[in-house]
Amino acid sequence: MKILAIAGSNSEVSMNKQLVAYASTIFDNAEVEVIDLNPFEMPIYKHERELKDGIPQEAKDFAAKIDAANLLLVSLPEHNGTYSTAFKNVFDWVSRIKERTVWNEVPMLLMSAAPGARGGAGVLEAATKRFPFHGGNIVETFSLPFFNDNFDKGGQKISNEEKDNELREKIKKISAIETILEK
Ligand SMILES: Cc1cc2nc3c(=O)[nH]c(=O)nc-3n(C[C@H](O)[C@H](O)[C@H](O)COP(=O)(O)O)c2cc1C
Repeated sequence: MKILAIAGSNSEVSMNKQLVAYASTIFDNAEVEVIDLNPFEMPIYKHERELKDGIPQEAKDFAAKIDAANLLLVSLPEHNGTYSTAFKNVFDWVSRIKERTVWNEVPMLLMSAAPGARGGAGVLEAATKRFPFHGGNIVETFSLPFFNDNFDKGGQKISNEEKDNELREKIKKISAIETILEK
């Protein structure tokens, strides 16, 4: 099974990257690639830019990684109640590639880590509603609130036992999905 773990952040100390990297370690027998959005930084989407220069190579590279995966772990930061600009720009550019959908129906565990109590509820709601229109196949969602209290940065794991068990249960269910196991 090939897992692509995507942190929807360009922070060098991203909470979402730490969460998605940890989640990827829970799967057995998986080939894992963890990425953040730094290698996929592109000019802000602009109609004339697309007409003049086409779609940037970075967007095509991001899409190719999705197409090569059997399972996506996607963890999104919440900025002002919704997607971060860094993520939205990648999403917008990738959505302009013809003859494929952004997420290409690859099964997805959608997550968010946040410093506050709501645990990225706003961005999770936005993505849960919107991604299915872009080939999003969300099989589970997971939210980690109070990241600084609930994540052990030294040990790089969730320190809150209840939240850790919740994530492990969800991953157990995902791992049992035959179409993912077969690959
Ligand atoms: C511009 C901006 C807006 C933010 N808005 C929210 C928000 O609406 N809800 C929230 O839980 N955290 C908010 N935060 C805090 C982020 O969750 C946190 O800084 C960070 O992006 C977590 O993800 P990351 O470390 O993976 O980038 C905001 C941070 C910034 C910089």
